[in-house]
Amino acid sequence: MQLIDGKATSAEIKADIAARVARIIAEGGRAPHLAAILVGHDGGSETYVANKVKACEACGFRSTVIRREADVTQAELLSLIDTLNADTDVDGFIVQLPLPAHIDEQAVIEAVRPDKDVDGFHPVNVGRQALGLPCFHSATPAGIVELLRHYDIPTRGRSCVIIGRSNIVGKPLAALMMQRGVDATVTVCHSATEGLADITRRADILVAALGRPGFVTADMVKPGATVIDVGTTRVPDASRKSGFRLCGDVDFEAVAPKCSYITPVPGGVGPMTIVSLMQNTLRAALHEVY
Ligand code: GUN
Repeated sequence: MQLIDGKATSAEIKADIAARVARIIAEGGRAPHLAAILVGHDGGSETYVANKVKACEACGFRSTVIRREADVTQAELLSLIDTLNADTDVDGFIVQLPLPAHIDEQAVIEAVRPDKDVDGFHPVNVGRQALGLPCFHSATPAGIVELLRHYDIPTRGRSCVIIGRSNIVGKPLAALMMQRGVDATVTVCHSATEGLADITRRADILVAALGRPGFVTADMVKPGATVIDVGTTRVPDASRKSGFRLCGDVDFEAVAPKCSYITPVPGGVGPMTIVSLMQNTLRAALHEVY
């Protein structure tokens, strides 16, 4: 069993990006600039945005965090998005999700100009990705495909089973894995799937992205499979200073001995998601997509 080290892989990619940015600046260009809108004080969102700011520093990007309280109105948020859409100083921006219940998340996603949508959440980017056209790829799926490539894990003709059909992971990952050049045979499972374990046991690449800690058990995994764990649930843990630990969707201790490759949580998919955002931001700054 080999551990897939997302932290080390993402560090290598960030170093490559930083070298490219240094060249851009040496040639008289300017650093890419990512802005993030953070609404309220959700602990997970605070951590993600802080990590994105740190990644920007590592890549030589400028970053700006714009905070609004949880009682911000939808109109105020949409107006802020319009301002960033028009701000030529900002190459790309994200609205950290989830948003408070009174805000229509889809309306917010659709307000972001597709050519600044470095999260790849806008329907234009999702649709272009499904068609295999140039676009901003959604960050987590792109990070997973990059990890598979980095570790030379074969995908062509292999069975890829995805548990979870969210708009930000399951659905876009299915589209990427079946794309020409990746060429996996994709199955997407969800809460209504019957005979789940029979399906997951056929997977050469099993992706758990449902958000239920320890859901994937050893009996659900084919010997020699590659297991990708997208789960990041905060589980109370009194022995930690923070009071919680991050828990993946895979029962790691039981599953790892059966796998040829497996991602840990933390340190697997998470850092790769952030590095994909950095790659999208660089491409936005260089106008490589739009
Ligand atoms: N919430 C969970 N994951 C993400 C992400 O990749 N981007 C944004 N904006 N919010 C998220």
